[in-house]
Amino acid sequence: MGGVAASAVVLLLVLFVGSTAVTADEDTFVGVNIGTDLSDMPHPTQVVALLKAQNIRHIRLYNADRGMLVALANSGIRVMVSVPNEQVLGIGQSNSTAANWVSQNVVAHYPATNITAIAVGSEVLNTLPNAAPILVNALKFIHSALVASNLDGQIKVSTPLSSSIILDPFPPSQAFFNKSMNSVLVPMLSFLQTTGSYLMLNVYPYYDYMQSNGLILLDYALFKPLPSNKEAVDPNTLLHYTNVFDAAIDAAYFAMSYLNFTNVPVVVTESGWPSKGDSKEPDATMENANTYNSNLIRHVLNKTGTPKHPGIASSTYIYELYNEDMKPGSLSEKNWGLFDETGKPVYILRLTGSGSVLSNDTTNQTYCTAREGADSKMLQAALDWACGAGKVDCSPLMQGEQCYEPDTVTAHATYAFDAYYHQMGKAPGTCDFNGVAAVTTTDPSHGTCLFSGSIGRNATLSNITAPSMNSTVSASGVGYPNYIGVIPTLLQIAAMMWTSLL
Ligand SMILES: *[C@@H]1O[C@H](CO)[C@@H](O)[C@H](O)[C@H]1NC(C)=O
Ligand SMILES: *[C@@H]1O[C@H](CO)[C@@H](O)[C@H](O)[C@H]1NC(C)=O
Ligand SMILES: *[C@@H]1O[C@H](CO)[C@@H](O)[C@H](O)[C@H]1NC(C)=O
Ligand SMILES: *[C@@H]1O[C@H](CO)[C@@H](O)[C@H](O)[C@H]1NC(C)=O
Ligand SMILES: *[C@@H]1O[C@H](CO)[C@@H](O)[C@H](O)[C@H]1NC(C)=O
Ligand SMILES: *[C@@H]1O[C@H](CO)[C@@H](O)[C@H](O)[C@H]1NC(C)=O
Ligand SMILES: *[C@@H]1O[C@H](CO)[C@@H](O)[C@H](O)[C@H]1NC(C)=O
Ligand SMILES: *[C@@H]1O[C@H](CO)[C@@H](O)[C@H](O)[C@H]1NC(C)=O
Ligand SMILES: *[C@@H]1O[C@H](CO)[C@@H](O)[C@H](O)[C@H]1NC(C)=O
Ligand SMILES: *[C@@H]1O[C@H](CO)[C@@H](O)[C@H](O)[C@H]1NC(C)=O
Repeated sequence: MGGVAASAVVLLLVLFVGSTAVTADEDTFVGVNIGTDLSDMPHPTQVVALLKAQNIRHIRLYNADRGMLVALANSGIRVMVSVPNEQVLGIGQSNSTAANWVSQNVVAHYPATNITAIAVGSEVLNTLPNAAPILVNALKFIHSALVASNLDGQIKVSTPLSSSIILDPFPPSQAFFNKSMNSVLVPMLSFLQTTGSYLMLNVYPYYDYMQSNGLILLDYALFKPLPSNKEAVDPNTLLHYTNVFDAAIDAAYFAMSYLNFTNVPVVVTESGWPSKGDSKEPDATMENANTYNSNLIRHVLNKTGTPKHPGIASSTYIYELYNEDMKPGSLSEKNWGLFDETGKPVYILRLTGSGSVLSNDTTNQTYCTAREGADSKMLQAALDWACGAGKVDCSPLMQGEQCYEPDTVTAHATYAFDAYYHQMGKAPGTCDFNGVAAVTTTDPSHGTCLFSGSIGRNATLSNITAPSMNSTVSASGVGYPNYIGVIPTLLQIAAMMWTSLL
């Protein structure tokens, strides 16, 4: 970028950012939503064990399940509890109902269970329109109960909104809230502002992409690098958008600023990507889900922020912890989870350099394999040593056992080398075997033959998640969908003009 252009950008940043008062949150985090529509929902203690094993420090519950809140006690995990939609009406109509709710579901568990927020309902304006008139009362009643218990400083109150109530979100500077909801949103934003709370927003680039008729590029939704001529530039602000997620958050900031609220931060209460879908959902794939969530986590934790608010990242709760097999609707609805009901990862996130959100970072996962083209006599000797003096349990290599096939010295040596390497705690020098072995990040597990260090319980997983040395962020050269052939509506033409500016 040339000096003149750079200073122009700086100037723009000052113009468009300097006028707001949203401040940086030092503790930007990635959390996870825990839906419970599973036929075999794990016991709360198992859920908490998984959260701990995965180093997940922030969660959102869709209710205030007593079992979960008890299991979470003294875990250090920060918890957002929810008033379920079916209780919002009652709470919004009665201060004492609200006070009882807070007393039973919050005060009874705090501080052992570190409840940090209360989400009043979930997308109430979309799913429960008859509760809209009392929604702000519900927020206020819950808040005054917290005040009465002197917990309003520690526990924030808000209500998750669907980003679908933000109209014309592209370009972000033209976004505004559905005006028919202003009578609720204005007092709500005023409440959030005066109580130091935040706007809870559900952001789904997957749906934006699906509903865009090809106008939103898959790579743009997945945080993949775009060629500069495909980058979205907001014609009003000249801000460059490199992903749908940031554009959606900035759309919320602009929509709020049109109602004269410029200091209410956005927290993303839901975002994710399904790993499986039916024939009408071809982009609900394991690879895309992994790419989206891995890039999302990196993006949030890097505190890059959005073009409108650089350096001010929105903490984000990934949707969701478990696949929910009982969820009604299309196949993708049941497949947003990071884990199955047994706690086995659906795929393994690629999180190099993003700190420690989920401890099972594949790129950290290493295995020991026989070197390509190594001398077979040397491999055989090393294999014999590993299964003998090396004390590796080589019984899975016996005929008829799970790791017998393929019956080659290379495959058998790889199994034994990997087992030895993990047995030795992956200590330096334990994956050498006179130079015929090498460390790799690709899980050599296959079929039912599970290698040491493999995170999967069986082959299905390793087949799916075999990690690559190449991180997802460098995924250039992927084909871009073609704009030609789309019959655009007026709105789409506006979006096209926007995306093709520059
Ligand atoms: C609860 O979480 C908040 C916010 O992260 C933190 O400041 C506080 O220290 C935690 N409290 C306990 C008891 O861990
Ligand atoms: C609701 O109850 C709280 C006590 O829980 C009280 O402080 C507050 O004034 C009440 N608010 C209204 C609007 O009645
Ligand atoms: C705005 O919200 C109303 C309901 O409050 C809904 O009927 C209408 O379709 C929405 N408008 C748009 C453009 O989504
Ligand atoms: C926002 O503030 C401006 C200037 O004070 C005022 O003209 C405008 O009506 C306000 N807009 C809303 C939606 O309150
Ligand atoms: C992280 O942030 C820095 C600057 O804040 C930026 O240069 C870098 O590209 C970001 N990395 C990712 C993966 O977003
Ligand atoms: C991953 O690797 C980093 C640096 O190489 C290390 O600090 C971290 O502890 C590793 N994490 C796991 C889970 O092995
Ligand atoms: C990785 O996940 C598995 C199962 O999900 C768990 O048993 C293991 O402890 C995790 N590894 C780390 C380093 O946390
Ligand atoms: C994988 O393990 C699960 C239980 O952990 C089992 O139900 C499934 O059949 C196994 N799949 C294969 C291919 O072995
Ligand atoms: C493993 O992957 C191969 C090729 O990608 C595929 O044909 C096969 O069906 C997969 N097996 C399982 C159990 O998923
Ligand atoms: C990484 O990507 C490069 C270029 O796309 C390719 O040549 C190389 O084989 C890849 N490496 C792995 C381990 O997949």
